[in-house]
Amino acid sequence: MKVTYHGHACLEINTQGHTLIIDPFINGNQLADVSVSDIQAQWILITHGHNDHIGDMVEIAKQNESTVIGMFEIAEFAGSFGLKNHGMNTGGSFTFPFGKVTLVPALHSSTYDYQGQKLPMGLATGVVIEAEGKTIYHAGDTGFFSDLSLLGEAYNIDVAFLPIGDNFTMGPLDAATVAHLIKAKKVVPIHYNTFPAIKQDPQEFIDALGDGSGIILNPGETLEV
Ligand code: NI
Ligand code: MN
Repeated sequence: MKVTYHGHACLEINTQGHTLIIDPFINGNQLADVSVSDIQAQWILITHGHNDHIGDMVEIAKQNESTVIGMFEIAEFAGSFGLKNHGMNTGGSFTFPFGKVTLVPALHSSTYDYQGQKLPMGLATGVVIEAEGKTIYHAGDTGFFSDLSLLGEAYNIDVAFLPIGDNFTMGPLDAATVAHLIKAKKVVPIHYNTFPAIKQDPQEFIDALGDGSGIILNPGETLEV
């Protein structure tokens, strides 16, 4: 499995001959290393309804005939544009051709700002993906809460992608605590330096981990999992 970081919370995953993009916020993401027209993904996974996560979902899905996966309300919203979609809900798993997806809790809000209206998009989630014998966890925009530690019991997490920006999510110290609780073998910081309110030095997070498990990915860099 190959995971490429496109800045903010956007990951592109290549596995089992499929391409999956998570939280495709490209336009308006000053850290993005790609253009929307470059994205070729058959699958789009959205962690929650905020605009910096739904991002360019509609355009990418239209140009690739992708299937949108996420919370039921987000899937229905995708369906309203005629997009293929697969709705799920917290705690549910489904095995797709690229691998198994489980939506897990995230402590966060989830509305979409659409043409001046705030649309409720269900609960915010994190996501666990199991493919090619590996397990990765994208935490979404969660704050710290103790149940996250149960992920360390339920899964053997090879790589965790945790937000460290603070203000809207966990900051670096909480994220380091969570990395240890979930027993992630490797941890990649995300959701920082995109906006002034989430400016962080990712090295502080790496140092707080203190065990060599942290990996900083610059936008455009790929991790072999
Ligand atoms: Ni958010
Ligand atoms: Mn966000």
